[in-house]
Amino acid sequence: MTTRQTSDTQAGNSGKSLIDPFNRTIEYVRLSVTDKCNLRCFYCMPKHFDDFEQPSHWLTFNEIERVIRAFADLGVAKVRITGGEPLVRKHLPVLANKLSQLHGIDDLSLSTNAVLLSRHSQALRDAGVSRINVSLDTLKPERFTQITGGKLQPVLDGLMAARQSGMAPIKINMVAMKGINDDEFEDMLEFCLEHDFTLRFIETMPVGETGTSASHHYLNLQQVKQRLAKRFDLIPGVMPGGGPARYMQVKNTRLRIGFITPISQHFCDTCNRVRLSVDGTLYLCLGQDHKYELRPLLRQGVSEDGLKNAIVEAIAIKPEKHEFRDKPGQIVRFMSMTGG
Ligand SMILES: C[S@@+](CC[C@H](N)C(=O)[O-])C[C@H]1O[C@@H](n2cnc3c(N)ncnc32)[C@H](O)[C@@H]1O
Ligand code: SF4
Repeated sequence: MTTRQTSDTQAGNSGKSLIDPFNRTIEYVRLSVTDKCNLRCFYCMPKHFDDFEQPSHWLTFNEIERVIRAFADLGVAKVRITGGEPLVRKHLPVLANKLSQLHGIDDLSLSTNAVLLSRHSQALRDAGVSRINVSLDTLKPERFTQITGGKLQPVLDGLMAARQSGMAPIKINMVAMKGINDDEFEDMLEFCLEHDFTLRFIETMPVGETGTSASHHYLNLQQVKQRLAKRFDLIPGVMPGGGPARYMQVKNTRLRIGFITPISQHFCDTCNRVRLSVDGTLYLCLGQDHKYELRPLLRQGVSEDGLKNAIVEAIAIKPEKHEFRDKPGQIVRFMSMTGG
């Protein structure tokens, strides 16, 4: 791992922005509101796993609001609510409402498996959740059950409800897996065309023992892109943004296809994010163990300035890059702890 002096970082934070030791501006927080989930995707969480964070360690909505306000004061503008499955946390729209009201937060989004979405989409939309990402790896009911342990129909209902409530864009996240769903890429593309969803393919990442064993199904998305290009006319380079997806557009349609390639082509040099887990740990990189505990400070009555200083200190230890390729399996926590 490469390190530099933390003083560079702190000097970089004299204005209203968070700059890490590698000169990247941090403007995005992924906020995990629970590590629990109502599914068990085999690449994410072990089937019988139940060693979840104890409720007394969960940040309360007020504590989360304090942390996100401090981030917003330091220049963060984007928050994505994630999990585990965020919709299993009770009263989520109440939290969403608090966050969307914060001065400086201009983009509040949600990552969900959509199992409970039809029940909550309107309340979330009203609370300021403007757009969502939904995990969907297959359109085949039996295969869905094999991959996740759950049922497909509620997810499809949730997607339609989200569209009905005015969320846009709606992005489908499909983990591309050899021998699991590699016969369905074209079908998923047609499904997204039909419903006006954006489609994003994701490479499996060796996070946790589940993610590491799922790496047997790893598919290089460069090959997937070449395969799709045989059937669809793909135009490169649309929707550039701070995010990790590289997008293409299907010619003469509104369909955008993103490729998230942490393994075949990593994007760490433009990383703009940190992750806050439900117990108040700030993870500085999805693929490294660098972390900073905020919960003890919050519960000891830290001042607003103290909290901001802690965040600045945390950003100073953000590592340069993940090492999924060089050290697969080094991250033992599950993806459900940090929300991907
Ligand atoms: C951890 S989930 C949390 C939010 C929500 N439960 C969901 O499934 O969208 C966030 C994303 O991480 C992805 N993910 C989980 N484990 C993964 C792995 N080992 N490799 C690649 N993506 C993974 C999921 O497919 C999902 O799109
Ligand atoms: S990917 Fe999302 S839905 Fe699937 S087990 Fe992980 S947290 Fe749950």
